[in-house]
Amino acid sequence: MSTFAFIVHPIDPKRDVARKFPRLARILSERAIHFFSAYFPPVYLSRPRGIVSQATGEELQGYLLACPLTAHRMRTLPLERAYRKIIQTGRLAQRLGADILGLGAFTSAIGDAGVTIARALDIPVTTGDSYTVASAVMLAEDVAQKMEVPLQDLHVAVVGATGSIGRGVALRLAPRVGHLWILARRPRALGRVQEEIHAHAPRARVTPSTDLADLRHAHLVISATSAPFAVLRPEHLTPGTVVIDMALPRDATRRLGRHPEYLVLDGGLIQVPGPVDFGFRFGLPRKLAYACMAETMILALEKRFECYTLGKRIDPDKVEQIRAWAANHGFQLASWYSFGHRVGTERIASFRERFEQRLRSMVSV
Ligand SMILES: NC(=O)c1ccc[n+]([C@@H]2O[C@H](COP(=O)([O-])OP(=O)(O)OC[C@H]3O[C@@H](n4cnc5c(N)ncnc54)[C@H](OP(=O)(O)O)[C@@H]3O)[C@@H](O)[C@H]2O)c1
Repeated sequence: MSTFAFIVHPIDPKRDVARKFPRLARILSERAIHFFSAYFPPVYLSRPRGIVSQATGEELQGYLLACPLTAHRMRTLPLERAYRKIIQTGRLAQRLGADILGLGAFTSAIGDAGVTIARALDIPVTTGDSYTVASAVMLAEDVAQKMEVPLQDLHVAVVGATGSIGRGVALRLAPRVGHLWILARRPRALGRVQEEIHAHAPRARVTPSTDLADLRHAHLVISATSAPFAVLRPEHLTPGTVVIDMALPRDATRRLGRHPEYLVLDGGLIQVPGPVDFGFRFGLPRKLAYACMAETMILALEKRFECYTLGKRIDPDKVEQIRAWAANHGFQLASWYSFGHRVGTERIASFRERFEQRLRSMVSV
């Protein structure tokens, strides 16, 4: 029987520490949690049950573990210290008998995206970014379908397009959409992504930009920055825009999420097959997992005990491969959620009207 392990860590210190240690979270200030997180040992969270492949009927064994470092500490500690804490958590996974280890949130984003961590461990490691990219592309396809517009008629923007997730999404979507805007802060890095896109898809219409005001051209925005604060506000967008927010912590401000003229969708949410009980509430609705977590489960079910996704350059072929394996085992894109709340059919229908209006009124970029 295959066994996976997956590492999470606190993103919102008070809220996330309270999930495992409610008393500690009540006593300690947010500052104290950040400070002590560097000295706390790795934490065993749970043994998920009921993850069952639809293809083989195999029930997967697994462990959820926490690296205690908060997102803030992960960013501000010297990289070597952050690596050491993640590797310590990985060694706990080894001792528990895991065949493969997945890295969640910032444990996969910092430094060289898993390469150093994998080198220090005896079990294979994956960041989960291939399936995260696949999930963003699937959600973009789903938006086009529910808005009843072909993907190739849409102007799409990817924010954080020089990063691991953003570049992967841009490469997959460029040949399939009407116009692609790629945004980040470093113009040279954006130029390199544009060249790469054109090497794969010479006819793709791609415009790089460092100015979030250019998001006003897009009908659909996919955001995957590593910014520590929310960067997307209503004033950046044209009313009637759909936003897929892949970032953790979120890129969309709450004000944008609440605004009736915009539809912000939580990205990277996957429905896991079987009567799933994760044994620990990591903040998602029941049976849902993050795509990076799902990638680790899919690889374990496929018995691909290898470092499938490491480093910042996602291989588009691996994105397609993991998407096919996932579908075979019964992993699916979740229903639509916005800031943790289910988006109902009425809201989808009324937004479709707003979206159509927007498309009719748009002349060209
Ligand atoms: N839902 C999931 O399953 C899942 C899985 C993996 C990752 N994630 C999340 O996805 C996000 C991206 O991860 P990643 O590994 O792709 O990160 P990454 O490789 O570090 O890339 C981050 C991107 O954001 C840009 N950026 C950073 N700060 C910015 C700002 N203030 N304004 C505009 N752009 C900014 C960076 O480019 P410049 O430096 O040029 O601006 C880069 O393009 C993270 O929030 C991560 O937690 C989610």
